[in-house]
Amino acid sequence: MLALIIYLLAVLLLLFFLIMMSIYTALLIYSSLKGSPYVPTKSKIMEEIFAPAKIKKGGYLIELGSGDGRMLRYAVKRYRISGVGVDVNPLLVFWSKVVARTENLIDAEFKVENIFDTDLSRADYVYIFLMPELIDKMVAKMNRELKKGAVVISHGFPIRAWKRKLYHVHERKPFPTYYYRIK
Ligand SMILES: C[S@@+](CC[C@H](N)C(=O)[O-])C[C@H]1O[C@@H](n2cnc3c(N)ncnc32)[C@H](O)[C@@H]1O
Repeated sequence: MLALIIYLLAVLLLLFFLIMMSIYTALLIYSSLKGSPYVPTKSKIMEEIFAPAKIKKGGYLIELGSGDGRMLRYAVKRYRISGVGVDVNPLLVFWSKVVARTENLIDAEFKVENIFDTDLSRADYVYIFLMPELIDKMVAKMNRELKKGAVVISHGFPIRAWKRKLYHVHERKPFPTYYYRIK
């Protein structure tokens, strides 16, 4: 009898694991279909990435495609700023919220949202790590909504239409980081 119960519990556990893995995989595929797969920025280069942006206390950062929220959470703690991270992947947003809550980070908000629906007008800083084709599609919206002086950090890929706004490049393999200022 005990062996049967243990067997059934093991089957249930395996089923639960398989379901969770399927949901996770489906959401990763969903992220890719929306324009960019989930590839987190390496934690050890976070300081290096934000330094050239010269982030000032009290600023507002928008992370477009925030993944597990590590970049926004780091910047909020390090520079005493506030901000919002948006991502289409509900699982990643849920996880970002859980971690922010356990760290008592009230200044970091996370939302399930498509980046094309995000109001950019409040941003002093924008952080993106997105595929070039998705960046290209965002250019018109960023041109329309970003305020003068706002800094856009694009990790991994350049904003091809913004050659004149580029003020710094940090060369690094496999992903360089590009810095733009709105004029
Ligand atoms: C390369 S990951 C970067 C994650 C995070 N910014 C980081 O640096 O660790 C790209 C993220 O963008 C999200 N994404 C892709 N297309 C999106 C869209 N149209 N709107 C919102 N988020 C999107 C994906 O779900 C994924 O989490």
